[in-house]
Amino acid sequence: MTFFDLKGRVAIVTGAAQGIGLAIAQRFVRAHASVAVVDINFAGAQDAAEEISREGGQAIAFTCDVADSNSVKNMVDAVLTTYSRIDILVNNAGIGGGATPTQNVSDEHWNRVIGVDLTGVFYCCRAVLPHMVERGYGRIVNVASIAGKEGNPNMVPYSSAKAGVIGLTKALAKEVVKSNVLVNVITPGTIDTGLINELPPQQARYIIEKIPMGRIGTPEEVASLVHWLASEEASFSTGAVFDLSGGRATY
Ligand code: NAI
Repeated sequence: MTFFDLKGRVAIVTGAAQGIGLAIAQRFVRAHASVAVVDINFAGAQDAAEEISREGGQAIAFTCDVADSNSVKNMVDAVLTTYSRIDILVNNAGIGGGATPTQNVSDEHWNRVIGVDLTGVFYCCRAVLPHMVERGYGRIVNVASIAGKEGNPNMVPYSSAKAGVIGLTKALAKEVVKSNVLVNVITPGTIDTGLINELPPQQARYIIEKIPMGRIGTPEEVASLVHWLASEEASFSTGAVFDLSGGRATY
């Protein structure tokens, strides 16, 4: 099997303490990248980085709340101090926000979901861009959701944030394409992680019933697509939306 080599590359993966982000960090390290395991849950990020390092990879934990611009700036500065470069940014950190009828969504609920899932992506892109543009190389992979394309009922803040990430990706991709910074977005359907377990059983069933393959995806299947998009092999795609949904999204 061809395995895209990321030797010499430094990658930031946000939300990498668990779930999809952890699978991406593990895969990057197996491809010989050095990884910044970034998470608001610093203890979890440290455990993840230690586990990855025990397997012989290069991974260091960094704490960050992606919804806080100072926290993002400090994290990016710390990664640059540690590794001297950033080639890859995976904006994976996210919260579902639970299932709530729109009339009951509080200001706080709306602001936190938009803050983490959309504004956090903007803050992280903005913080790494000067470095990537100056060096003339970068791969940014944003993790949106099929909810951003189709809309999930009772998940208006989440669906809105993820649709925003798709728009952000398209606009930014055109802006920085001449600097060889490629920006793409993936829109996974349901993946087997903590996020789906947050949902009430009825909401989880609604989602799974829509998948033609009749199963949810695995974090490793997501990591596989992200790995390609983060590599030099992905050289003619930018501003593109990549589905990963067991056949649910076909447009
Ligand atoms: P998860 O809940 O297992 O992991 C999310 C990670 O993000 C956690 O480690 C958490 O501590 C971290 N995080 C949360 N808020 C943060 C913040 N403000 N700053 C930094 N880190 C923060 O979630 P999962 O399932 O691995 O999801 C990862 C991404 O994939 C999310 O963006 C999610 O919206 C997206 N996604 C997930 C799907 C699923 O079915 N699991 C489907 C489609 C998209």
